[in-house]
Amino acid sequence: MYTPSTAGRVVDLWTRARRAVAMRLGRYEPYLPQVIDDGRLRSDLGRYLGLPAATIAAWWDEYAALSRAQGYAARMGERKTLCFEEAFILFALMRRYRPPTVVEIGTQYGRSTRRIIDMRRHLGLASRVVCFDVVDQVRFFEPSEAELVLRDVTDDVAATVLHAYPAGLIYLDAHPYALLQDVVRAVLADGRWALAIHDCAAGLCNPRMTLPRDEPEVTSRSGVWERHVLADIFGVPDPLSARLDDLETASHRLRVFGTPHGLAVILPRQLAPAPDPAAD
Ligand SMILES: C[S@@+](CC[C@H](N)C(=O)[O-])C[C@H]1O[C@@H](n2cnc3c(N)ncnc32)[C@H](O)[C@@H]1O
Repeated sequence: MYTPSTAGRVVDLWTRARRAVAMRLGRYEPYLPQVIDDGRLRSDLGRYLGLPAATIAAWWDEYAALSRAQGYAARMGERKTLCFEEAFILFALMRRYRPPTVVEIGTQYGRSTRRIIDMRRHLGLASRVVCFDVVDQVRFFEPSEAELVLRDVTDDVAATVLHAYPAGLIYLDAHPYALLQDVVRAVLADGRWALAIHDCAAGLCNPRMTLPRDEPEVTSRSGVWERHVLADIFGVPDPLSARLDDLETASHRLRVFGTPHGLAVILPRQLAPAPDPAAD
């Protein structure tokens, strides 16, 4: 968990300053915060899901107990996979909407899948967990716990995912530009699925990407495409703009939560209540 500590705050100040200087010189430096404002995250999530603060606080404690009991931070780390705060957002989505299907795109060793499978069991859900990747490197779950489909769904998202399973939640954690673009477009056009996307923090966004869009090797060192794709699709000219962190269209609401890697959630408006202007 990204808890406040003096050392963490000093590292954050230092890496933020390095990034600011590099950006002014026209270079890119990634920035992943050590310290997260948990109170802000909980209140943003409560507003987004239309839930009272007390409910979010109780769910937070519930998931923290599960996370501690499973020892995720020590077993699987919190970098290059879901950290506690990001996993909590998925937990809240699963607890709130009880999706019949959870699809993961980009599974790798199965660290995020492990958390999703344990959430499903903890919540007593019958959700089918279906994972898509282009290689099998799974170490953290058994074939009896989730299905792994070795397939690139780019260009084929509607038929292979959206219409192939009862509508639920998609967790997208793979970096190719075309895949990100096709999944977001297909989900918006379909209107029934909820979508969560890892690595949408401004600190991982290089506004001057030098990689070609068809380059498969995209990492935090080059900068990732996630905010570029969201900016293009939602019509925001600058991928670093804070406008991208909270916006709505006629059919959907997008929120990028302030977690270390930045977790974006896109919900159809019938699932995400309109914001209450009287709320804090
Ligand atoms: C960042 S890793 C996923 C990490 C994993 N979700 C976790 O938290 O442990 C990205 C994964 O996306 C996969 N990937 C890349 N292109 C893909 C595609 N077109 N379709 C599905 N998976 C893809 C890669 O093989 C890699 O395993």
